[in-house]
Amino acid sequence: MLAAAGVIWFIIIGVAVYAVRTQPKPDEGRIGGRLILYLGVIFPVVSLGALLTYGLTLMPDLRSPGDGLAIAVTGEQWWWRVEYRSPELDAPVVSANEIRLPAGRRTEFILDSADVIHSFWIPPLGGKMDMIPGHVTRLVLEPTKTGSYRGVCAEFCGTSHALMAFSVVVMEEEAFADWLAGEAAPADPPATPVAERGAALFGQVGCGACHTVRGTPAEGVIGPDLTHLASRATLGAGILPNDPETLAKWIRDTEALKPGSLMPSFGMLPEEDLNAIVAYLEGLE
Ligand code: CUA
Repeated sequence: MLAAAGVIWFIIIGVAVYAVRTQPKPDEGRIGGRLILYLGVIFPVVSLGALLTYGLTLMPDLRSPGDGLAIAVTGEQWWWRVEYRSPELDAPVVSANEIRLPAGRRTEFILDSADVIHSFWIPPLGGKMDMIPGHVTRLVLEPTKTGSYRGVCAEFCGTSHALMAFSVVVMEEEAFADWLAGEAAPADPPATPVAERGAALFGQVGCGACHTVRGTPAEGVIGPDLTHLASRATLGAGILPNDPETLAKWIRDTEALKPGSLMPSFGMLPEEDLNAIVAYLEGLE
């Protein structure tokens, strides 16, 4: 395209210089008319038509969803439901608030919303795409460099819109396959007596009504899946570091950290019970 544009540029400049340098002659009107017809109408129609046809043949490749890895992401007030779908998986793998991608492979995102309009955006990897309730939108990304990135919600979606982010980790293809296999596995059983007590409390207090921890009786689907919570970099949808102190603070005072959140604050829990639940959750690698 650059070469063709260069040739056209020289022709146009040549004609312009010729027009400035020469005196008009009596019969020049007819030549001018033909010049306009050939160079001004026929030539652009033919050359732009050829470029358009060539461009259209490239389109299917640019839009192709790749070799089968798809990630369904649903925007919720104010977090992200994430589901990995791939022919290599027996069943879709559910996660939340973090997206892992293999480098050098096209991944299709299937975007939807559970409540209001959100917008899915990973600035270093591509453009944003609206998530519309009841209408699936699609986006294909092919990250080339491994690393950690930050994704955000780019559409005002309520009180905690600015507190709706997610972490993105681009991994080598093999490391990604290992990670996905681990993510598909059910949760590790509690490793310490404290964590064991935490697991029991997690059920008694009612956490399992909203959260799923695969392999346990907790099968709630209202909030984020917590099966491998401890392996995620952030808490509260990309806004807080994932460490025991912050997690305790989150459970105790969710409303202060994310105003309007559906999760109630559990400030009434005795310190010891709260710490046991945190010990359990931070063991869910
Ligand atoms: Cu979701 Cu803004």
